[in-house]
Amino acid sequence: MHYTGYLAIHDMESELEREFEVRGMKFAFKKERLYLVEGDGPDMIWAQMTARNLEKITITSINDGASKLKEKGRNWGLFTVGHHRRAQLIQDELPKYNTKPIPFRHPLPSSPMGFWTLWEQDEILATQVTSSPFAIGEMDFQEDKVMPPSRAYLKLWEFFTVYAPEAIAGGTAIDVGSCPGGWTWVLRTLEFDKVHSVDKAPIEKRIMDLGRIDFRQESAFGLDPKDFGEIDWFCSDIICYPERLLTLVNKFRAAGTVKNFVCTIKYQAETDWEATMKFLEIPGSRIVHLHHNKHEVTWFLKGANA
Ligand SMILES: C[S@@+](CC[C@H](N)C(=O)[O-])C[C@H]1O[C@@H](n2cnc3c(N)ncnc32)[C@H](O)[C@@H]1O
Repeated sequence: MHYTGYLAIHDMESELEREFEVRGMKFAFKKERLYLVEGDGPDMIWAQMTARNLEKITITSINDGASKLKEKGRNWGLFTVGHHRRAQLIQDELPKYNTKPIPFRHPLPSSPMGFWTLWEQDEILATQVTSSPFAIGEMDFQEDKVMPPSRAYLKLWEFFTVYAPEAIAGGTAIDVGSCPGGWTWVLRTLEFDKVHSVDKAPIEKRIMDLGRIDFRQESAFGLDPKDFGEIDWFCSDIICYPERLLTLVNKFRAAGTVKNFVCTIKYQAETDWEATMKFLEIPGSRIVHLHHNKHEVTWFLKGANA
């Protein structure tokens, strides 16, 4: 028997539990915020990391645990669900890996990052097949504390580093719900030829001073796709109901002029599952909870016109 392990996001276990319900799934075991499903399971939005083919390994000592893990792979991210000290002593015997914050668009680690936990005193659960090249799905950037006017830029940094590293510069981007200007700044550093930036609020002057930004102070919901021509990236971080965002996205999809979309779906107190599932039904698209997302998720669609 093998398991699929889902590590819920800190303080958001209820979101993952609700997602199990929505998808008609049942978990077999739970310890701390690690959930085990028997056999294979799908990718889950509210898991910060998915561990596939988890197998149980009986160990007789700390050294035995470390050597059995080393036989299976080099890199191991640990999440402890109990026996914390014993687990850490095993981890200390394993090869070290780089945990330093990385720069924007730094190439992703190419070697697999495994996952393990000490499930019982003498029983490890481990796999080398995980959804993230970073230990337990956590990553940090070398932040820019000078230019970005808000920390929202970290979401777009994470997206273009982890989920769209192949995205090429040049072309046109549109950033809706853009103020104070963090995402527009990221798009400018990516050297798009033109960034259309739209918000009801004003954008910061120093972002405008970067040049090649067409700022429009108006509601994004009134935009006409015909006014923009071909768009390489449609980016939205608008604060609005998910259904409203969906209508806007569908308007631009229907125009057939947008190659790629990346949008934050923001929730009020409750996650709007109905709208979320409608986004997921858009062919070829995915929804992830970025490490830099809060009570919101990121929907993206690459190669919409392919
Ligand atoms: C979270 S902020 C965006 C932060 C931005 N991505 C950044 O990096 O600085 C959300 C923005 O959505 C904008 N917004 C809300 N309703 C809007 C609408 N109907 N049209 C355009 N922008 C809207 C707000 O004015 C706000 O600036």
